[in-house]
Amino acid sequence: MTATSASNLDLAAALAEAEQHYRAANPKSLTQHRLACAAMPGGNTRASIHVDPFPLTIVRGEGARLVDLDGHEYTDFLSEFTAGIYGHSHPSIRRAIEEALAGGINFGAVSEIEARFAAALCARFPSLELVRFTNSGTEANLMALSAARAITGRSKILVFGGGYHGGVFYFRGQGSAVNAPFDYLVGRYNDLAAIEALVRPHRHELAAILVEPMQGTTGCIPAERPFLAGLRGLADETGAVLIFDEVMTSRLAPGGLQEALGILPDLTTLGKYLGGGMSFGAFGGRGELMARFDPRRKDAFQHAGTFNNNLLTMNAGYVGLTEVYTPPRARALNQWGEDLRERLNAIARRTGLAMQFTGRGSMMSVHMTDRPIRSEEDAARGNAGLRDLFWFDLLAAGIWFAKRGMFALSIALDEADADQLATAVEEFAALRAPLFAQAAAV
Ligand SMILES: Cc1ncc(COP(=O)(O)O)c(C=O)c1O
Repeated sequence: MTATSASNLDLAAALAEAEQHYRAANPKSLTQHRLACAAMPGGNTRASIHVDPFPLTIVRGEGARLVDLDGHEYTDFLSEFTAGIYGHSHPSIRRAIEEALAGGINFGAVSEIEARFAAALCARFPSLELVRFTNSGTEANLMALSAARAITGRSKILVFGGGYHGGVFYFRGQGSAVNAPFDYLVGRYNDLAAIEALVRPHRHELAAILVEPMQGTTGCIPAERPFLAGLRGLADETGAVLIFDEVMTSRLAPGGLQEALGILPDLTTLGKYLGGGMSFGAFGGRGELMARFDPRRKDAFQHAGTFNNNLLTMNAGYVGLTEVYTPPRARALNQWGEDLRERLNAIARRTGLAMQFTGRGSMMSVHMTDRPIRSEEDAARGNAGLRDLFWFDLLAAGIWFAKRGMFALSIALDEADADQLATAVEEFAALRAPLFAQAAAV
């Protein structure tokens, strides 16, 4: 298609054409999707990876490459929504898993590996004095919130619109009917005055404040430092437990965003890449809070989980954190991400399109608006049709990222991959400029 073709003058027509191309290019993925629908609702077991008209089935990954069922190759700029920081089948991670396998798995006992890994996490993340493992970030948040309620004897939990903390902690849009049934106050992100007003009548009922230091799922929206500092103050004043959900953001600096911003929560939840690519979650923080989980105590909180200390995760996570994603590597990846995001934003500025890449370090999201983005409401002002078109166009150019606009970098990507992405964004900007003009005129 050329910039002058009729469908490029109308967004609906351009989207229809892009979708048609997608369908034609991916017949095997469509067949596989239909097969999967027979046994899973919508052929899906994880809502975040469903896309319309149907998802592509990936059959193989290596380094920063993915291959789908129809044989197309993609450069992986999604990195499993931040969990795949090591790229596919990193040799050190493979070795760690093979080592663990060779020694037998699932002992029904404590092992040395989990203690080593726990110590490495506590050494790395400044607010972690003691830590416990779970199987997912969702479960880590469930445990942290339940502990905060039990410790404070209070019921209310302050969360933020656009926040995502797992399958049962979804606060985007209207929220979710299957959220964990806690008593939530939902406040506006990056708006401290509104939060103080919201909390005022409930000061003595507030058990916890749960916040992502940068909202990931809703479009890589960084929390402003004064906002997080204000939440720290609010927790101190009210006696609520401040929980940073660093399931995604822990990758953004050697000690997570808490270290980068110099604000320490009472509890932190972790997940994603920290398990080396295996199922993983963790919650930890101040010693006197976490000590409530000490089973030697008479009043200990109950916390169990068959796979909490599974050896594949424990060893892959430990080796990944201490041998691969070391502090210098974390700094380098995030600086590279800063440079790449600035390069893409420069394209948007040069072409004058209402498009921007928000985020920090190795995480970013595209938004089809040039207005500042500080909250879910701001992000919702972006043009969703143009964003979908951007996804179809970049996918056709061999770039793999989330349809909702999210990119996460892995250490397997290199400068040639960055050039590929920048070129695809340049081509999109040149080709689709008439549609931006049309959207602006509406
Ligand atoms: C900020 C945040 N918290 C929690 C979770 C849930 O983690 P998991 O998918 O491991 O349950 C996610 C997942 O995307 C997340 O982004």
